[in-house]
Amino acid sequence: MGTHIILIGFMGAGKTTVGRCLSRQTSWPLFDTDQMIEKRAGMSIRRIFETRGEEVFRGLETETIHSLMDRGEDWVLSAGGGMPLREENRKLLREAGQVVYLKVNPGTVLHRLQGDTTRPLLAGGDVKKKVEDLLNCRGPIYESAAHIIIKADDRQPEDIAEEIMVAVRAHLL
Ligand code: S3P
Repeated sequence: MGTHIILIGFMGAGKTTVGRCLSRQTSWPLFDTDQMIEKRAGMSIRRIFETRGEEVFRGLETETIHSLMDRGEDWVLSAGGGMPLREENRKLLREAGQVVYLKVNPGTVLHRLQGDTTRPLLAGGDVKKKVEDLLNCRGPIYESAAHIIIKADDRQPEDIAEEIMVAVRAHLL
């Protein structure tokens, strides 16, 4: 089985950007669960939430991890922010590879997602409160799912990717 790095964390934590850097640095392919689900369903995440609901989306997330576990080679995965919420998914992710939590403050999320319309969970209302409440609730869940925790506020994605590789190698020794 290859080395698998799985990036988890809140929306706007930089999972996809850091995933791209890791993919460049290692030459391993990058998978993105949101993109895989959109491609398979033939519609956007927003549309899946609208027409089929969050539970169906969460089921699709579980299916995507299963499909990746069958691939033997090295890879990097950017997991959707809600992926670790299901206990089943947390177990699957930890079995699949090294789970890295990109930890950010609410301020970083709000700054990065200003004007974003693609995240149904943050659409409308008091976005600041939504981010704070969700992060409060999810923080311990992300931490319990992770093998490695990396602070990711105010940092260059390349630096974060380098720190992740050092931590992953140390963890695998
Ligand atoms: C979600 C995060 C999103 C996407 C969906 C739900 C969440 O992915 O999967 O909108 O519950 O946190 P990103 O973390 O890539 O934004």
